[in-house]
Amino acid sequence: MTDRFTESRRLFERAQQSIAGGVNSGIRKMEQPVPLYFARGAGSRLWDVDGNEYLDFQTGQGALLFGHAPTGLADALAAQARLGTHWAAQSELEIDVAERLQSMVPGAERVRFNNSATEVVMSALRLARGLTGKPLVLKFEGHYHGWSDEGLVGFAPPPDKWGTADEPTRLHPSKGIIPEVLDQFVVARWNDPEHLRHRVDQYRGKIAAIIFEPALCNTGCLEPAAGLLATIRELCDREGALMIADETITGFRFGAACAQGYYGFSPDLTIFGKAIGGGVPFAALAGKAKVFDPIIRGEVVHAGTLNANPLCLAASRWCLDEILALGPQHPAGLQRLGQRLIAGLEKLAREYNVPLQAQGPALVFHTTLLKPGAATGPIRDYRDYVQRHDAPRWAHLRRCLLEHGVRAIERGLWFLSLAHSDADIDTALTRATAAFAQHATEWKT
Ligand SMILES: Cc1ncc(COP(=O)(O)O)c(C=O)c1O
Repeated sequence: MTDRFTESRRLFERAQQSIAGGVNSGIRKMEQPVPLYFARGAGSRLWDVDGNEYLDFQTGQGALLFGHAPTGLADALAAQARLGTHWAAQSELEIDVAERLQSMVPGAERVRFNNSATEVVMSALRLARGLTGKPLVLKFEGHYHGWSDEGLVGFAPPPDKWGTADEPTRLHPSKGIIPEVLDQFVVARWNDPEHLRHRVDQYRGKIAAIIFEPALCNTGCLEPAAGLLATIRELCDREGALMIADETITGFRFGAACAQGYYGFSPDLTIFGKAIGGGVPFAALAGKAKVFDPIIRGEVVHAGTLNANPLCLAASRWCLDEILALGPQHPAGLQRLGQRLIAGLEKLAREYNVPLQAQGPALVFHTTLLKPGAATGPIRDYRDYVQRHDAPRWAHLRRCLLEHGVRAIERGLWFLSLAHSDADIDTALTRATAAFAQHATEWKT
């Protein structure tokens, strides 16, 4: 492979002397051959410090639904910055954003704002326990709900420790967590309604909430199996538990009414992050009005110096107005582009004999490279994903794509943005042709 990344290498080396490990979020170290340093983004494109240009499908880990540096968003931020960057107090802006959320998402009867989805998940789980008086949260293997002690339980357990199919182990990938946190969780496999029923039955009367990504996007891209979301709703109603949809990725990407509108379900609480701020640190907890009572009464604490920060609110108001202006075109337009990209990648895979399988609703999708001998067909859950996805082979293909100016996510996900055009998809596929050719030549199984 060539080395087009000399300036990024130089900066990464310099960063080691001041930034612990050289990066500010562990996952960024995954980027091969070196974590890249960027100078500028515009629309669907991004330029690194070596002057390389990319068609970007990483899009700020999905936050940039409107692409890089859209003019309207930049103007909204600049105008607000001149009025004030932070008040730690009320503003009409926060009502503007809350009212837009109410109008777009049926379940958003009330909201509270934070600055990251990790925080919002912590609030949601605290609220669920505070409201129900029950101790346990059920979550699904492979689902990611932020990096807190609670959010990472059951995320990426190693195969030798993942427990039986009936009783997945509660594991946390980090040292240093409060060990008792693990006791507060029940882990279930995704996409198996009968197994879910069994897990809830095992802990009857003790479950405060079931939390889930409506389409699992942090381990492959696994849409919910038929009947799964209805089963979660039914079990939550039966148990008096809260159904918590973590729409950090799906929110606004799947339409104005988010994944809950797209799949047709009605959660008690919803977590929003990423696209709600279009790339600024903004996140929200939304839900049914009565669920917020313990916060309103002050029995459950929700706080934060930078909550409802006016810069973030100005950005969010612009983002939500953009979605509202698109009307019923969204998400159909985004999905059509995603489908074109998927079809093109699958065609290249056939031409170059690369065992690539795309999965997901095209608004976001995952490219799995099957391990030698692995069965073809849709991946169902976390374990299936680990058993069939050839991560090193994907890392090689991803690097080839990067070298030819196409940037996907390190773990195989691709995010479309509203800044992508048909011409961008054509260019991406032309570039990808060279990348597949390189991969086919260099990769040795
Ligand atoms: C589904 C989901 N929930 C929560 C989070 C945490 O969001 P943040 O990184 O903004 O804290 C993420 C981040 O990727 C996510 O994908």
